[in-house]
Parts: sequence; C-alpha cells; structure tokens
Amino acid sequence: MARIRLNLLITALAFYVSGRSVSAINVSLPISAPGGSQGLSPTLLSFSIEQDRWPDWTGIDERNEFTHSALLNYAALTGQPPNIRVGANSEDHTFWSPTVTIEEASFPPPNTITPYPEATSITVGDAYYSLSRFLPTGTRMVWGVNLGADNVTNAVNMAKAIVGAFRTLAVQLSGVILDRIEVGNEADLYKNNGLRPSNWTVQEYVADWENVAGAVAEAVGINSRNDPVTLQGAAFAGQGFTPREIFDLGILNSAPGKAISVISQHQYSAAFCNGGDFPLVSFMSKAAVRGNLTIFEADIAATNSKGLVYILGETNSIACHGAPGVSNTAGAALWAVDYTLQAAKLGIKEAYFHEGVGYKYNFIQPITLNRSTVDGSTLDPPSPPHVQPSYYAGLLINNFIGNTGAAQLVELAVNDPNVSGYAAFEHGRLVRAAFINLHAWLTSSTGDRPSVHIDFNFARGATADSQKAVDSFWSSATAVARRIVIQHADDVANLTWAGQSYETPDAQPSGVPVFEPVDLSQGIDLRATEAVLVSF
Ligand SMILES: *[C@@H]1O[C@H](CO)[C@@H](O)[C@H](O)[C@H]1NC(C)=O
Ligand SMILES: *[C@@H]1O[C@H](CO)[C@@H](O)[C@H](O)[C@H]1NC(C)=O
Ligand SMILES: *[C@@H]1O[C@H](CO)[C@@H](O)[C@H](O)[C@H]1NC(C)=O
Ligand SMILES: *[C@@H]1O[C@H](CO)[C@@H](O)[C@H](O)[C@H]1NC(C)=O
Ligand SMILES: *[C@@H]1O[C@H](CO)[C@@H](O)[C@H](O)[C@H]1NC(C)=O
Ligand SMILES: *[C@@H]1O[C@H](CO)[C@@H](O)[C@H](O)[C@H]1NC(C)=O
Ligand SMILES: *[C@@H]1O[C@H](CO)[C@@H](O)[C@H](O)[C@H]1NC(C)=O
Repeated sequence: MARIRLNLLITALAFYVSGRSVSAINVSLPISAPGGSQGLSPTLLSFSIEQDRWPDWTGIDERNEFTHSALLNYAALTGQPPNIRVGANSEDHTFWSPTVTIEEASFPPPNTITPYPEATSITVGDAYYSLSRFLPTGTRMVWGVNLGADNVTNAVNMAKAIVGAFRTLAVQLSGVILDRIEVGNEADLYKNNGLRPSNWTVQEYVADWENVAGAVAEAVGINSRNDPVTLQGAAFAGQGFTPREIFDLGILNSAPGKAISVISQHQYSAAFCNGGDFPLVSFMSKAAVRGNLTIFEADIAATNSKGLVYILGETNSIACHGAPGVSNTAGAALWAVDYTLQAAKLGIKEAYFHEGVGYKYNFIQPITLNRSTVDGSTLDPPSPPHVQPSYYAGLLINNFIGNTGAAQLVELAVNDPNVSGYAAFEHGRLVRAAFINLHAWLTSSTGDRPSVHIDFNFARGATADSQKAVDSFWSSATAVARRIVIQHADDVANLTWAGQSYETPDAQPSGVPVFEPVDLSQGIDLRATEAVLVSF
C-alpha cells in the first residue's frame, strides 16, 4: 500500500527544468511480448469511401495520381496498401443500369453545415466498378450492395456487376482484389431514415438480409466463408442492432450467413448532422477514446468465438462528414493514432476511416475543391488535392506496424491522463514504442508549452526473460525517435512527420528526414500535442 502511494507520488511529481513545465513518467517496457498481445494487421489503417463520388477518387480516363501516391506512401510502410471499402449511405441509394456507362448522380444543394452533401440517387454501370483498377496494386476491396431498396433484382444486378468487373482483364492485371461484398449499410437506421417502417425489428432485418444476401450469394457463386470472395456481416451504425443479436437469431446458419467471414460495426464519437459546437479537447482525451471503443468488447468476443474477424468497417471522429475545429485539425491526427492503436488493442483487426470528397474529417482530399469544407464558401483560388492533418496519423501508425507482417501490440501503462503508449513486438521481441501526448496546446494557449519526460524501464516479458536478458537489452539497444510535430492542436495544416511535410502537390514528402538518436538511459521529452515513435 505504502509502496503504491509512493509510486503514485513520484510519477505524478511535476517539476521545472530551465523554466519549462515538465512532468516525469516512468514507463515499463517489456522486452518480449506479454501474454494477450494482439496481432497488428498491415491494413489496420484502412479507408471507407462514400460511393457517390467514387470516380473522383480513382480517376476515370486515367488514374488519380494524387490518390494513388497518398495511398502508396502508406503501402510502402507496411508492404500492403490500405483496404478500401466503397459504400456507406450511398450504398443504399445506388441502382445498376445497363444503359449507364459509369455514373449518374443527383446532389442536393450545399449549405454551411454540409458543404459537400451526399447524392440522393445514384445510377451506375459496369465501368463504374472497374475503376477499382486505378488503386495501388495489391489493394483489397469491400464493395457495398443496396439492401435499403429491398429490391432483389437490383441487389443481384449490382453484385454481378461488381464480381464481373473484378473478372475483367484490366482489373485482373491491376492486382486489385475483391475480398467481400457488404449487403446493406447501417440497416439499424433504416427505421429512422424511411427505408423501412418505424416498427422494423432486428428479426425482420435478419429475414430481409437472408433473402437479399441469399440471392446475391447464389447469383455470384459465394458459398462459404473460405471462398475467395465472401460476405461482410452487420455493418450497423450504432447499438440499435448488434452482432450478438443477429448471431442469436441464427443468421450464421442461413446459406448467405455461412459465407460471412467478417463482422463490421461503425463508430463515430459524435455527430454534426445538424451542426453543433464540439470542443477539440473532448477528443484529445484518453478516457473518451477508450469510452468510444470499449462498448464493442462483447461483440468482438462474440464474433471471435464464432471464428470470424471483427472490424470497424466505417469510422471517424464525428458523423455527417466531421465538425470544423475538430475533425480537420492536427489534434484529430493525435486522436486518430490513439483511437486506431486502441482499437487494435481491443482485437479490432481493421479500422476503415470514412472519406468523401470535401469532408472535414478526410485524411486525403483527392480532387480540387471550389468550396470550403468548413462552411461551403467559395474558394478562390480553388484548393488543389492535398492531405489533411489526419494523414500524418497513418504515417506513424504504419511505421509502428512495420513491414514484417508479424508485429504484435500491447498498450503500455502510462501514469498520465493525457499520455498513451503502445509497444510493438516482432517475433516476440520489443521493436518499437509509440507515445501520444493528447494534452491540447492551442493557438489560444499561453505561457510555456508543457512537456512530459518519459523514462524507460525495461522489464521482463511473458517469456520470463532473465534479468541478464533485460540488462543486455538495456545496454545494447540503440534507439531513434521520429515525431509528429504540430504547432497547435487547432491548426488545420503545417504538420510534419519525422521532419517532413506531406502537404505537397503530389503527397510526396518534402524536407530532410529527422531521426533523433535516443539515449535510453536519459529517456525522451514529449511536448503537449505531439506523438513520437521510438524504434529500438
Ligand atoms: C522508475 O522505475 C525505476 C525501476 O523501478 C525506479 O528505479 C525509478 O526510481 C523510477 N523513477 C520514477 C521517476 O518513478
Ligand atoms: C427493382 O429493380 C429493378 C432493376 O433496377 C427495377 O426494374 C424495378 O422497377 C425495381 N422494383 C421496384 C419495386 O422498385
Ligand atoms: C408495423 O406496423 C404496421 C402498420 O404500420 C403493421 O402492419 C405491422 O404488423 C407492424 N409490425 C410489427 C412487427 O409490429
Ligand atoms: C466519445 O467521444 C466523445 C468525444 O471525444 C466524448 O464526448 C464522449 O463522451 C465519448 N463517449 C464515451 C462513451 O466515452
Ligand atoms: C470546380 O470548378 C470547376 C470550374 O467551374 C469545375 O470544372 C469543377 O468541376 C469544380 N469542382 C468541383 C469539385 O465542384
Ligand atoms: C491534460 O490536458 C488538458 C488539456 O488538454 C489539461 O487541461 C490538463 O491539465 C492536462 N492534465 C495533466 C495532468 O497534465
Ligand atoms: C503554416 O505555417 C506558416 C509559417 O509558420 C504560417 O504562415 C501559416 O499561416 C500556417 N498555416 C496554417 C494553416 O496554420
């Protein structure tokens, strides 16, 4: 008891070093992977794309070089491009037509809350799906099919067009692969958005899904969860329907249910559908990140117990395209690092960050924009394709994952309410650690920018390493640090990763890379609103 108190006292101690406010924390780093380490997928960071403006992301006559380059940066770090899911709300408003070449869509007028509204109706032809060939080689995809319209003929037409596109020579040669078909987006909201009666139940959902997905699976020859193309299940918006409920209703015993390989749920930490004022500091919070993810624990466990993979198939900070001053800021990049690594810790294999053209929470803006994403005002000159602050989160995350395909993660106990930490292991051995200081340093902040000092304390891991092994790691390890450097949490630009900016016309880094040598016996400093990756 006395000892615990003493530790708390020491670690909470704040003192001043040459006029700067520095608090010291002592972090225990296991040198080998502890029990309960989670596998890190090379595609942990993946993307979901709103279906209505899909051709803008890929290009039509030739590939969109900006999208390609921005995705390829990520692919180079883990050896695998992010997975791409195309669908979301517009998935349930899309019809296939034999007479449309690529896409015809109608969009409502923009307004200040929603400068880039979603299409209300979308008609696509076969060539729409074969634009998938413009993604980086090796990209794996999930395509959405319309369940909202409750029209089996259209759902089957869409699925045939999707599978047919991936059988064309052009898509085959591109090396882009179809992994899954998702029948219906956020069906738990259908009773609110008019796609089903207001008394529609989860029982009716299961029967409806089995009917439409059954016809889809049969038409395109999907029979089991071990087939090359399988079905993605659930894709619910909130806790309206849950994976546990549909398992209990026997969905996995139905013919299409036997072809479900992955269960998807969606999560946003708030919603900006009618505007609102969201404080950035409420997002830069360890407690809020954890509170928004631990709600899925029972569904993750139930999914894994059925032998299925669990993902967040659509996620981001604030629903309805993000909120200004939060989703588009540097603070959101730090939020995204902690959120994604926390998701991995909970057994969520992949987190698909939702993107649309002109959305506030995008990592990537793929085309030139004429209207402000913040309030819809005219941009003169227009804003060319660019990466947004959250893009830098992916650079840290994918460097943390590395390219061996073998990395595992644990969360580290960090005794500071604003600082989170994670360690990565390869072949059981400690290789990297990431620390995120969510303490918000804003343009309005005054005084000295606070900092925490992190001391490393290497410890025995799961394999009961000898003290000799620990001492030897400590004495022989060399380390370098790379950082996401941010001027202010509420900045909407001007970040760097390892000394380089990616805010360039082609998403290629500019500037001299900065690798800081770390003296492990001295530890590191981490400023408020900064993240660091230490490689051992
Ligand atoms: C950190 O942990 C080490 C090893 O347990 C201990 O010797 C040291 O006093 C601790 N430092 C602080 C600041 O808690
Ligand atoms: C269902 O979709 C087919 C094919 O698009 C269309 O011809 C038919 O009119 C639709 N049925 C209804 C009830 O909307
Ligand atoms: C839902 O409401 C409709 C009338 O609007 C009714 O016919 C139907 O039986 C109700 N369904 C359930 C499950 O209560
Ligand atoms: C989710 O995150 C939001 C914004 O950070 C926060 O306001 C909310 O309290 C969090 N929810 C939970 C359940 O922790
Ligand atoms: C921007 O304006 C140009 C010229 O009017 C137009 O061609 C382009 O489609 C517009 N882009 C968007 C995203 O609206
Ligand atoms: C955590 O960060 C917030 C601002 O984001 C700050 O008000 C608070 O004092 C910080 N807590 C500690 C212990 O540093
Ligand atoms: C980026 O930094 C430059 C130089 O410090 C500054 O002039 C500019 O206003 C910053 N831009 C944003 C969007 O913060």
